[in-house]
Amino acid sequence: MADADTLLQVRDLRASFTREGRTSQVVRGIGFDIAPGEAVGFVGESGSGKSVTARALMRLAPEGSSLQLAGSIRYRGQELLGLPEAQMRDIRGRRIAMVFQDPMSSLNPVLSVGAQIDDMLRRHTGASAQAARRRTVELLGLVGIRDAQRRVDDYPHQFSGGMRQRVMIAMAVSCAPDLLIADEPTTALDVTVQAQILRLLLRLRRELGMALLLITHDFGVIAGMVERVHVMLEGAIVESGPIDGIFADPQHAYTRALLDAVPRLDRAGRPA
Ligand SMILES: Nc1ncnc2c1ncn2[C@@H]1O[C@H](COP(=O)(O)OP(=O)(O)OP(=O)(O)O)[C@@H](O)[C@H]1O
Ligand SMILES: [Mg+2]
Repeated sequence: MADADTLLQVRDLRASFTREGRTSQVVRGIGFDIAPGEAVGFVGESGSGKSVTARALMRLAPEGSSLQLAGSIRYRGQELLGLPEAQMRDIRGRRIAMVFQDPMSSLNPVLSVGAQIDDMLRRHTGASAQAARRRTVELLGLVGIRDAQRRVDDYPHQFSGGMRQRVMIAMAVSCAPDLLIADEPTTALDVTVQAQILRLLLRLRRELGMALLLITHDFGVIAGMVERVHVMLEGAIVESGPIDGIFADPQHAYTRALLDAVPRLDRAGRPA
């Protein structure tokens, strides 16, 4: 039973890939809830299943793979596993949006960034070409692209890594989703730009009233960003709780090891 205060309710979610007749399970029965407007973190080492979990919530298989999902993902009480793909397309991008781990692979190199955001807006909101263009320029401004009116016709390769990440975020929030999933949104960026992007996510979350699912391998990144955290290890959640409690009193040895990797100064508050 999903109660009305839950935006996303995940139960016993399992994900596996089949290759050459062999199946390997990479998400092993995880469960968690996200309330409307809540910020939740997923932390775990490389390969622990964070990105596959994120993709599972959007029912998006990685390019060229067959991803099988089982269990339950309820969005506002509606079961997403088994929902016809046409209906899933309305939810994807419109209700649940994602900033992918690798911005270059998720932006189309042969289309201007403006055309890509316009397309998203027109597809999901039925906006006219003119209205979509106006909103796209506004969105680029909102995420801190200077001179957005001129940059809107530039191609992804004409932007720096940090700006590309801003463009990805603009596209993800273009349809005002209820939930933004950000998968390692700052990993490829230098520390100053990292902090700017995290601040941007915080601000957008507040201004748009979105829930945020922030995925990272680094506890330093989620300090000051989220209210609750789930620690993932080998496809399972090994520890969950309010972020302050986990920082103060981690229960699982693996959580302690992840916390020990964070420089002490970063632990107290939000990133510099
Ligand atoms: N397309 C795929 N085909 C087969 N196996 C995959 C595929 N994508 C991921 N996996 C496997 O699923 C497991 C979880 O991968 P996932 O990408 O979710 O890890 P992650 O926690 O996001 O790691 P990272 O921090 O490096 O991004 C890994 O064992 C990985 O090898
Ligand atoms: Mg990943």
